[in-house]
Amino acid sequence: MAAIFNINAQDKSYLDKKKPIEERINILMKQMTLEEKVGQMNQYNGFWDVTGPAPTGGSAEEKYKNIKKGLVGSMLSVRGVKEVKAVQKIAVEETRLGIPLIIGFDVIHGYKTLSPIPLAESSSWDMKAIEKSAEVAASEAAASGINWTFGPMMDISRDARWGRVMEGAGEDPYLGAQVAVARVKGFQGDNTFRSPLRIAATAKHFAAYGFVDAGLEYSASEVNRNILYNQVLPPFKAAVDTGIRSIMTSFNTIDGIPATANQMLLRETLKNKWGFNGFVVSDWASVREMIYWGYSPDEKSAAKSAVEAGTDMDMEGGIFVPHLVSLVQNGQVKESLVDDAVRRILRVKFELGLFDDPYRFLDEKREKEVIGSKANRDAVLDMAKKSIVLLKNEKQLLPLKKEGQKILLLGDLAASKNSPLGSWRIASDNNTAVSVLEGMQKYKGNSLKYEKGIALTQEEPTFLTEVQYNTTNREGLEAAKQAAKDADVIVMVLGEHGFSSGEARSRTQIDLPGLQQEFLEEIYKINPNIVLVLNNGRPLAISWAAEHIPAIVEAWQLGTETGNAVAQVLFGDYNPSGKLTMSFPRNVGQIPIYYNHYSTGRFTNKDGNVFWSHYSDVDKTPLYPFGYGLSYSKFEYSAPKVNKKTFAKGEKVEVTVTVKNTGIYAGKEVVQLYVKDDFASVVRPVKELKGFEMVDLQPNESKTLTFSLGEKELGFYNQDGKFVVEPGTFKIMIGGNSADVQELTIELL
Ligand code: NOJ
Repeated sequence: MAAIFNINAQDKSYLDKKKPIEERINILMKQMTLEEKVGQMNQYNGFWDVTGPAPTGGSAEEKYKNIKKGLVGSMLSVRGVKEVKAVQKIAVEETRLGIPLIIGFDVIHGYKTLSPIPLAESSSWDMKAIEKSAEVAASEAAASGINWTFGPMMDISRDARWGRVMEGAGEDPYLGAQVAVARVKGFQGDNTFRSPLRIAATAKHFAAYGFVDAGLEYSASEVNRNILYNQVLPPFKAAVDTGIRSIMTSFNTIDGIPATANQMLLRETLKNKWGFNGFVVSDWASVREMIYWGYSPDEKSAAKSAVEAGTDMDMEGGIFVPHLVSLVQNGQVKESLVDDAVRRILRVKFELGLFDDPYRFLDEKREKEVIGSKANRDAVLDMAKKSIVLLKNEKQLLPLKKEGQKILLLGDLAASKNSPLGSWRIASDNNTAVSVLEGMQKYKGNSLKYEKGIALTQEEPTFLTEVQYNTTNREGLEAAKQAAKDADVIVMVLGEHGFSSGEARSRTQIDLPGLQQEFLEEIYKINPNIVLVLNNGRPLAISWAAEHIPAIVEAWQLGTETGNAVAQVLFGDYNPSGKLTMSFPRNVGQIPIYYNHYSTGRFTNKDGNVFWSHYSDVDKTPLYPFGYGLSYSKFEYSAPKVNKKTFAKGEKVEVTVTVKNTGIYAGKEVVQLYVKDDFASVVRPVKELKGFEMVDLQPNESKTLTFSLGEKELGFYNQDGKFVVEPGTFKIMIGGNSADVQELTIELL
């Protein structure tokens, strides 16, 4: 191996595979200069894709020069075996110690073959499918030379205005933690990285980015301790317990302190209390941006605060390399902190096997075989079907009939091969999704009529441009209206463009953008037999449609296989089984709206006057609640039972419920269990998800499910961040969504 490395070290035994990793790190670090150590803490963006404001790392030439000097530990957004090899070779063969680069990339919902957007995937409540989807993403990225993803994002959010809700798993920390674990396992496998198709994962964004003020991107987050401990942190803790190898800080401040300089979060909680031994990367220039927040007076001070708090690597900020060496030499930053950061970064590089073979992810043959394989397409199709949520189905419009029904398909989005790919898909090619039109044509051939109707956008947007919706051009409406007269059923595909959500895509209105509401109402006047298929990256406010349109299918942005998945659901070859993981508001003014809210001292209007907690203009409940989703079948729940009504600490309570499929189709139901601590030292939410299970039932079949409840499910984090379980009564609720449950009471003595 030494031959590959061409290194100039005195003691090369850190290349000895047989030695334990910690010993190899010691041998290497003893020989590193302070400059080389700081170099490991520096990450540059690659040379073409940009995923943030203009890079600060200089020209490609300068970057190459700095790699050669050993001043770069990682690159992001370099991809493809050829390109990665070119930079890796410099690090390995031309630097004094030959320390390989770790290559990061935003593998968010697939690499080239795309899965549904993460919010959609979470709606499947199917952890095996989600794990598989991350595994497919990891394999394609790894085959392309990448060994570290900036995912999964596990920011809990209650604010559909925030564009990044598309990247997460919705509003609930219990489900969010399960999804986070499934994704980490999918990316990292068994954490040994023996397979060259697994990559290191990143839990992001640490922390509370999902609670940015008013859903405004890059704004502050003023969460309290209760929310931080009980809502924000649980998915991160679960990811750390699963062995995630890196954590990314968030852009926001929390209680006035930027996350990137947050000692309490990074040093005390993550590293000391949770014992995380991977490394922390900043977000893109978030070290530098502490100056613009008015927190760090200059670059030096930003570097000092970040490192002291526990940020180990500076992504594209260009702050550590120019300042850290002198800060240490002047005694302003302890060298032990730099050592700790470098040790963590090197640890992950060793674990990834980069010191054993820095080119192990760089195999052109594998690149060709793995990327876009049939198996990968099958896996993302499976994920896509499972992500669809049936919101309404009246007049038995769905499933559509394969024969003998005149079907009209309408909407710009129905024919789009680009928008269904969603946001965050830098490595995949534009226009590569199967459109809904193509998917439905497989069933109906040329007998399927299609009209575009009113255009969605003024022009096709990109990852870097703002989406401009069409608000003036009604061309196409007449033709659509004419065609509508003659159809038995009309499938209208409406919603947001795929680039309307994701980073830097906050919106203040979340109804159907552009002229689509008008389009929908115009067609409805002519023919009300409409199946509305929604494409969107966030909950939308669709009150009018919910009232008038007989069938509504939430189809998100489902990735490469979108059209096939949608068609299989519409024609009944897959019975929809998804359930919402974010509440859909009646209008934007209800945001933040979430099922696990607190009670209030005035929760009903039993006195018949106005002095109770409500809005004067709209029902305070969501349009569609958390956990909601229909099937072509119907499911009946028995009354739940417990094996004991009272129990002592340390004991478990078993809750059973029988679910029966009373419909005519085989189908799957996600059975949900919620808990409410009736009285506690800190007011507890009206209900919190603490268990769920998916049952697969034939018509007339029933199954009995058993949930086990213990301290883990019944406790909470108090104001000091301590997990406590307090005696008293608890309500246990079981049902098919958060608003439709049957309850019973148990008591902890
Ligand atoms: C900024 C985003 O916030 C983060 O999620 C992403 O990983 C980095 N840019 C790199 O693209």
